[in-house]
Amino acid sequence: MSEKHDVSGVPTTGHLWDDDLADFTNQPPKWWMLGLTASALFVVVYWIYYPSVPFASSFFKGVGGWSAIKEMEADKGEVDAARGKFEAKLKDMTPAAILADSELTEYIKRSGKVLFGDNCAACHGQNGAGTKGKDGLFAPILNDDDWLYGGKIDNIYETIAGGRQGMMVAHKDTLKEQQIDDVAKFVKALSEEGKDKADADPAVAAGKKVFMESDCTACHGTDEHGIQAMGSANLTDKIWRFDGSLEGIKHTITYGVNSGDPQARIAQMPDFKKAAKLSDAEIKKLAVYVYKFGGGQVDSTPEVAVAAPTPATPEKAAK
Ligand code: HEC
Ligand code: HEC
Repeated sequence: MSEKHDVSGVPTTGHLWDDDLADFTNQPPKWWMLGLTASALFVVVYWIYYPSVPFASSFFKGVGGWSAIKEMEADKGEVDAARGKFEAKLKDMTPAAILADSELTEYIKRSGKVLFGDNCAACHGQNGAGTKGKDGLFAPILNDDDWLYGGKIDNIYETIAGGRQGMMVAHKDTLKEQQIDDVAKFVKALSEEGKDKADADPAVAAGKKVFMESDCTACHGTDEHGIQAMGSANLTDKIWRFDGSLEGIKHTITYGVNSGDPQARIAQMPDFKKAAKLSDAEIKKLAVYVYKFGGGQVDSTPEVAVAAPTPATPEKAAK
């Protein structure tokens, strides 16, 4: 069958159409044959080295011992090693020292989300944005600069470690309804008109008198700014922990907060250390995480305020 092409002299398969078109018997180029053989070999080796053939209840595991789970664990090991370095470092540092270390703070900002989400977000909302009293959980917003118990790093640490339960007594037996009505109007005017105007406003003068002459000043101060050690709310700002309507304010004054009265407002921040829910390192991380929501206050008197919850390491703090 192997006729030769008239013009080129190359053997053909016998398929000749005319002088220009013929079916030659040329071998494929060498590089192409090599490539084909190499890929065939590669398939066999790959097939034996890696898990391949499925059986009824198992599969051929491959001679190389590779598995997706092992690869994932190796990656995780690397991440754990990187975390371990930071975790070991912050264990012996005070919250203030951690805050002063930008690398550690960055690490906490990235890794604290899960810890906060698991333990705090149910009451305080994602990113501390608050829950607006949903389900009766009057947990304060944590990403503003309004603090009941102080926004310095050590205040925040103490809040999380020890819990907080501000207490305001009920006034239903100590004040008359008219007095409660009057003082509620004064309190509302404090945030609506501003302190200076409310103080001089004859329309709420009766309420101001009640405020100054009953027990209010003992806890909220004569300037109505609240006292941090007690967590008594600042009554001169526009931020309401509970309900800021006149009815809402009257309710708070009548039944109090955590007062034991069945209608009292409940505001309980659990303690995370004594209940042994979180380790000291976790509490420190959360303190820094919350501080970095943006509302944290700078400590102007570090010598006094940096009370070390764990052995102090001022050398590290200085770094
Ligand atoms: C069961 C609900 C609840 C959970 C869970 C909770 N909190 Fe609170 N938290 C509160 C309440 C209520 C208050 C206010 C207490 C008060 O008014 O006396 C508060 C107060 C605070 C304050 C003080 C705010 C201020 O203005 O001074 C901080 C900081 C805080 N919580 C952080 C956290 C962190 C961090 C977690 C997670 C580890 C957490 N909370 C978990 C309910 C909760
Ligand atoms: C024993 C201390 C105490 C006394 C007395 C007291 N308060 Fe309070 N009050 C508090 C505390 C603490 C809070 C904040 C509770 C919290 O947030 O957990 C508070 C909260 C409030 C609030 C709610 C503020 C908000 O943002 O929702 C109002 C209003 C208020 N007090 C008014 C008064 C008035 C008016 C009087 C006097 C008739 C009074 N309080 C007496 C401790 C006290």
